[in-house]
Amino acid sequence: MTKTRLDKLLSNLGYTTRKEAKGWIKTGRIQVGDKICYDESIKVYHNEVRVDGELLDPPTLTIAMYKPKGVICSHNESGKLIYSLLPHRWRLRTPPLSTIGRLDKDTTGLILLTDDGDLNHRLTSPKKKVSKRYQVTLQNPLRGDEVTQFASGSLMLKGDDKPCLPALLTPLDSYHAEVILTEGRYHQVKRMFEAVGNRVVALHRSHFGEFDLGELREGEFIVFRGSLNQVSIKSHQSDQSRELSAEENSALV
Ligand code: URA
Repeated sequence: MTKTRLDKLLSNLGYTTRKEAKGWIKTGRIQVGDKICYDESIKVYHNEVRVDGELLDPPTLTIAMYKPKGVICSHNESGKLIYSLLPHRWRLRTPPLSTIGRLDKDTTGLILLTDDGDLNHRLTSPKKKVSKRYQVTLQNPLRGDEVTQFASGSLMLKGDDKPCLPALLTPLDSYHAEVILTEGRYHQVKRMFEAVGNRVVALHRSHFGEFDLGELREGEFIVFRGSLNQVSIKSHQSDQSRELSAEENSALV
């Protein structure tokens, strides 16, 4: 762990701007070790600082969230953005928190967010072929040949120049199916069903790689700590927090 200037650390974690940090420090809100600190230029370790008696947010933030319908995975589009479901200061962090891939506005389910660029890259790089599992509701009944078409490795999507990698389609009944993809193309599930003459009317993601939704409810999120061991489950709207049970922990780690 490296030392960082106190005002820079507070600003990087979104607590305050560097300019305003001076005021926070002057009024005795910041503790370093067991002493109140009055010097914004002092270099500190992250884990020795407290704001109003509370330890700082993690230096690196990785979150699993149950995305509700109608929420947009973007920093700058108009409408309700996914970041508005998180505590305000997390939106002000440097480096910024971003979604790992995206879900469409009308898609629900598991979305991961992180400010760790390497992790984001590892989980979205086409080379890594991280699996994503979706539950799909269709407008028209399945015909029967879709499983083979999805698995073929030759299914072409409109406007693309390469066929989709083989995908695993499991029909649940005539109008419902589960799909496992190892790519992340734009609107991929919807476009794959369009390519076989159908239309997706509802889409939900339950798994991303080794992660699943566990006991999360819509709008709730889990913060992973250290080596992605999550310690608490939170809904910002209700501002409630509870410890995860052992089963919930093992479901997501
Ligand atoms: N495929 C889609 O069509 N939409 C999503 O949100 C995710 C995968």
